[in-house]
Amino acid sequence: MIDITIDGEVVQVVSGSTLLDACRLIGKDQPTLCYLETLSPVNVCRVCVVELEGSRTLVPSCSRMAESGMVVQTDSERVRHSRKVVLEFLASSVDLSLAGSEVRDWLDQYEARPDRFGPRAAPTGDRDRRHAGHHHRTTGSVAETVQQSIKIDNPLYVRDYSRCILCYKCVEACGEDAQNTFAIAVAGRGFDARISTEFDVALPESACVYCGNCIGVCPTGALMFRSEHELRQAEMWEEERQTVTRTICSYCGVGCNLDLHVQDNRIEKVTSPQDHDVTSGHLCIKGRFGYEYVQELGDLATTPIDEVLARARQH
Ligand code: SF4
Ligand code: SF4
Ligand code: FES
Repeated sequence: MIDITIDGEVVQVVSGSTLLDACRLIGKDQPTLCYLETLSPVNVCRVCVVELEGSRTLVPSCSRMAESGMVVQTDSERVRHSRKVVLEFLASSVDLSLAGSEVRDWLDQYEARPDRFGPRAAPTGDRDRRHAGHHHRTTGSVAETVQQSIKIDNPLYVRDYSRCILCYKCVEACGEDAQNTFAIAVAGRGFDARISTEFDVALPESACVYCGNCIGVCPTGALMFRSEHELRQAEMWEEERQTVTRTICSYCGVGCNLDLHVQDNRIEKVTSPQDHDVTSGHLCIKGRFGYEYVQELGDLATTPIDEVLARARQH
């Protein structure tokens, strides 16, 4: 065990804990965007920074290991200012309307004013065609954005990178933290950086195996089941009316837990609990997207159970 001091309070943590772990231990959770318990920290969003005595720069609490005798401030003026600016940059350039409610709470908490950079600039063309180092001079009177068209190139999920905060979670989940497929990565530099398949090919031509693990970790709605996207477009997505039922995937013997999100007696998407110690929330294509047949088995309210089971056996 080691002792550190957080906002004047001495905390004992197990060696190997991060500053974020220590903060959470005493109920001082910090904002995080690129951090997820099931992925390796990549330290790219910098919204979790804290002030560490003796350190020239603020440090990311999600990945900085606690060391004996550290003295940390989580709510100093410097910390608040840094978080405010990070949130302003993100909210001025990215569509955060489907991000979790905690993001809106942080915008209020840190008095972020994304509108101070001016109105949003008109889209400047295809971000995927931009060349590294060829930055466009801006007028300074409008806020440039990451606006681009939604990519709909397969029947299973859509990619709306106007909502992407470049947190890298999808890249990690597609890569060595879960799927080991490496179908997507960050292309470009600076403001032109974006998530891309190799050579920006459409998803069906890429290495993607449609596990949907990238959708499972995306915090902003940039990656979304096509069924959810279409219901949202039709203004028929009503989360408050949906039920979520936990079940076990029947396709193989691993025993992945599935959460079926049902609206109007139809499964609209499938997620998996992150605290499941076998899968950590990750699935394969069958568990994630292989639910369509369930709709064809018949409505239990009107179809005899024997008939439903007989149809299930045929699949
Ligand atoms: S669906 Fe799976 S394989 Fe395809 S990009 Fe997402 S994480 Fe990678
Ligand atoms: S698509 Fe989602 S998960 Fe991937 S970097 Fe963008 S916000 Fe993060
Ligand atoms: S949550 Fe720590 S850098 Fe993103």
